[in-house]
Amino acid sequence: MIISLIGFMGAGKTTTGVQLAKTLKCPFVDLDSYIEKKEGKTITEIFEEGGEASFRTLEENSLQDVLENHISEHPETLEDADTPKKVCTLVLSLGGGIVTNPAAAELISRFTYCIYIKTDIETILQRLEDESSSRPMLSGEGSLREKIEKLYYEREPLYRSLAKKII
Ligand code: S3P
Repeated sequence: MIISLIGFMGAGKTTTGVQLAKTLKCPFVDLDSYIEKKEGKTITEIFEEGGEASFRTLEENSLQDVLENHISEHPETLEDADTPKKVCTLVLSLGGGIVTNPAAAELISRFTYCIYIKTDIETILQRLEDESSSRPMLSGEGSLREKIEKLYYEREPLYRSLAKKII
């Protein structure tokens, strides 16, 4: 089984993922770090060069790479994506906006046991106040709160519908 972690920026997907993988004694992949390594660029540089659309395509292709590589080594993953009863062979932390791409959402739903780490807006605001410059989706016009609220309300139903468990 592959466990994937979804949720808004600042929810703690990476921190939780590292700890969960350690507890379950299985590998951990952070998809943003995978993309940065593969492209030799930071997420911010990728957004600056090609905008959100090109990042979403890279994100989907990278998710497909990670899943294909993992499933070829662990074909039993295909049998139990829906039930958390077997051994976890990978913990995968995903970027906050991946759920907006239906093709990526389909891959998550089909091949992983997806957990939504739900965080309220006030907590997200506090956590991202000093970090928003490294998050391209939070740049541009408007206050940080306005930008977070807009994305949060767009994405919350998508997180909910994809998750097999909400924490
Ligand atoms: C994004 C979230 C980021 C990263 C990119 C876009 C988003 O990941 O994928 O900056 O659209 O919410 P984190 O959720 O890990 O910050």
